[in-house]
Amino acid sequence: MKNFIALFLFFCATIAASAQIRTEILLEKNWKFSRTDQPEAVGPDFDDAAWQSVRVPHDWAAYGPFDGNADLQNVAITQDGETQASMKSGRTGGLPFIGVGWYRTRFDAGGFEPGSRRASICFDGAMSNARVWLNGREVGFRPYGYNSFWFDISPFVKERDNVLAVRLENLPESSRWYPGAGLYRNVRLRITSDVHVPVWGTRVTTSRVSEQSAEVELHTEISAPAGLKGAFRIVTKILDAGGNAIASASYGAGAVPESATTRFSIANPHLWSPESPYLYRAVSELFVDDRSVDLYETRFGVRSLEIIPNKGMFLNGKPVKFRGVCNHHDLGPLGAAVNRRALQRQLEILKDMGCNAIRTAHNMPAPELVELCDEMGFMMMVEAFDEWNTAKCRNGYNLYFDQWAEKDLVNMIRQFRNNASVVMWSIGNEVPGQHTAKGMRTARDLQAICHREDPTRPVTMGIDNVQGAMNSHMAAILDVAGFTYRLPFYRKAYAELPQEIVLGSETASTISSRGVYHFPVVRGSNKMHEDNQCSGYDVEHCSWSNLPDDDFAHQDDYPWCIGEFVWTGFDYLGEPTPYGSKWPNHSSMFGIIDLAGIPKDRYYLYRSHWNPSEETLHILPHWTWPGREGQTTPVFVYTNHPSAELFINGKSQGKLTKDKGMTVERTDTKEASDQLLRLRRYRLMWMDAKYEPGTIKVVAYNERGEAVAEREVHTAGRPHHIELSADRTSLAADGRDLAFITARVVDSRGNLCPDASHSLRFKTSGAGTFEAAANGDPTNLEQFHLPRMSLFKGQLVAIVRAGERSGTLRFEAEAAGLGKGTVELKVQD
Ligand code: GAL
Repeated sequence: MKNFIALFLFFCATIAASAQIRTEILLEKNWKFSRTDQPEAVGPDFDDAAWQSVRVPHDWAAYGPFDGNADLQNVAITQDGETQASMKSGRTGGLPFIGVGWYRTRFDAGGFEPGSRRASICFDGAMSNARVWLNGREVGFRPYGYNSFWFDISPFVKERDNVLAVRLENLPESSRWYPGAGLYRNVRLRITSDVHVPVWGTRVTTSRVSEQSAEVELHTEISAPAGLKGAFRIVTKILDAGGNAIASASYGAGAVPESATTRFSIANPHLWSPESPYLYRAVSELFVDDRSVDLYETRFGVRSLEIIPNKGMFLNGKPVKFRGVCNHHDLGPLGAAVNRRALQRQLEILKDMGCNAIRTAHNMPAPELVELCDEMGFMMMVEAFDEWNTAKCRNGYNLYFDQWAEKDLVNMIRQFRNNASVVMWSIGNEVPGQHTAKGMRTARDLQAICHREDPTRPVTMGIDNVQGAMNSHMAAILDVAGFTYRLPFYRKAYAELPQEIVLGSETASTISSRGVYHFPVVRGSNKMHEDNQCSGYDVEHCSWSNLPDDDFAHQDDYPWCIGEFVWTGFDYLGEPTPYGSKWPNHSSMFGIIDLAGIPKDRYYLYRSHWNPSEETLHILPHWTWPGREGQTTPVFVYTNHPSAELFINGKSQGKLTKDKGMTVERTDTKEASDQLLRLRRYRLMWMDAKYEPGTIKVVAYNERGEAVAEREVHTAGRPHHIELSADRTSLAADGRDLAFITARVVDSRGNLCPDASHSLRFKTSGAGTFEAAANGDPTNLEQFHLPRMSLFKGQLVAIVRAGERSGTLRFEAEAAGLGKGTVELKVQD
């Protein structure tokens, strides 16, 4: 009880004090935006009344229209093995991100007083070449669009009526994927007293971690006016997830120091892991002459991560492998504009698949993503660059590397080094020059910066020139050698590299379109089809890549493989391989999940292998093939069960069992690969099944031969009605929360009509607004933000946004001949 009262008083004091000593304001509303370059817009008196009103985060290019000539790039993509240049359309998504955009906003800095208070402005990311002015005076410049950066604006800010102006400029040929455009991440204003913890000013390290105890060290930087007199004290309490103070420590000095270090022991700590993402908070209060001057909170987790040569990776002493995915930063139909709920939904879908790790390819993530990974339990590889100072794209990061790389890397590490989810830094992806001494030295120097800023985490990078990087010793000097694809090199690298472990930092690049099936079903490399799609049978990949099963086999057969990051979890805008020169196609087909967030068949293959304690029993393809009667139409089943029997209209097609004998060594021939032999280890495939309309049924058996589950797929009749299902029934009335509503067209018995392509019209009323829609078709040129969209393979996803008042949000989707589907959602404070 005593503890409770003390804590209660501590909180009351904290809340009262924090209202005065530190405020953070999200600058999200009241922005004006223009695409016309007008230097006079820096002036506070400039009239921006005619500019568009927007809310930040904002991506000016996500609204389209799509255009095959936008950022047309005449290039040879040498990383993909191309030697001749050719015109690439859609490489950056075919969206209008190039050019200049201006943003202006007016804000009050309540509580700011010149002299005794400080103010900073923090951009979580701005795409790109950000120039910032406050009240007509230039504040600073930052070129890299993905990096978080901040400026001390104390010399420029006033308590009332400030005018902030930001000019952004995106160059053509600056990216290999859709970068987004504008203030696509949050902008935060912070006001503190003149003695305060600066932005990203703490570092928590945990050591001697066990289930019995852990040591925690908190290093806090302190910013104070030069020559300030007064006794200094910092009091830090460690709070558990329930808000109980479980440890405390203080440090005092006769004058304000530049930094202070406090140490704590935690008995019986709750260790952070993907299964149990437990978080603690260190809440520090700073005093000068007993006057409270700052209150700063650092969230952290207690965990250990060790990578042991020839043994593998261990989290809290237990073996673990990355079952990870790489993701670009865009959110499909929302463009690059960050939204916490949209990220959370992605992670929920990945979690259910059994994914335990995310690689932020190929750049710094939004802080919301890192926070969610902390909370939901994903390990993260946070990556800094796709280019060093040699170009992959003419106007890429190579223009900035020499001057900015260290500053950008430092920001990334300081921002995320207290996050429990972050387990590894990556200093680059497939940079040119891996085979050279210069490349090796750059890697060494970047790794040294990472170690200086954070001595606790290993550093890796994505190596595609494995032999070159081994010859130059680049692979050997890294903490962890990460390979992008290149499975045939794994055993050699393990045998020759000092680390004696191998990480699949990027794997698979299997390509498929949801619900599209091509015949005959054969393994294909860089295969192009007339419909500009890739086969949903999951047998197609790029010339440099492979199928999911190939990575599963390597990870399963070799304990020294510490896991993989599949390219990619979600489809993303841009990089429409293999249709880079064949418009229309504006988004990738690498995703396990499509651009709308609907799982492809492949999702269930990963789920069956990565999440084996949950039942997966998934049949493909659909069974509505008018015109294919009597033709060979292979049936695949993805299941966690070892065996299954297939029935077509009641006739058994035989029982199949996964063939565990198909090891890497046994299947390492072209013949085995052509015959899909390795796939028999992870999929059940009835290659000779013939189509006849009706019902296919699969019965799954466990190890003891007992029938444990069954599924059926029916031939669909005519499209009958629209079925709507929302991911959640209740939203927060905060103006930011989203609901994702899946629309499916079904026959009168509820079977999905797999070829339905009707155009649906949407109406949203009540307590929210329509935001965007997508159907996952990479060839579809409809604009995401318009309240209509056609179905792709019978489905699409519409997104609605909660307003700021509670009430009912009503969403309707309608199409000629199908009537209307309706959902109602609660929006509440
Ligand atoms: C990799 C590259 C990724 C993406 C992928 C497509 O080589 O790192 O960014 O381009 O290929 O397969």
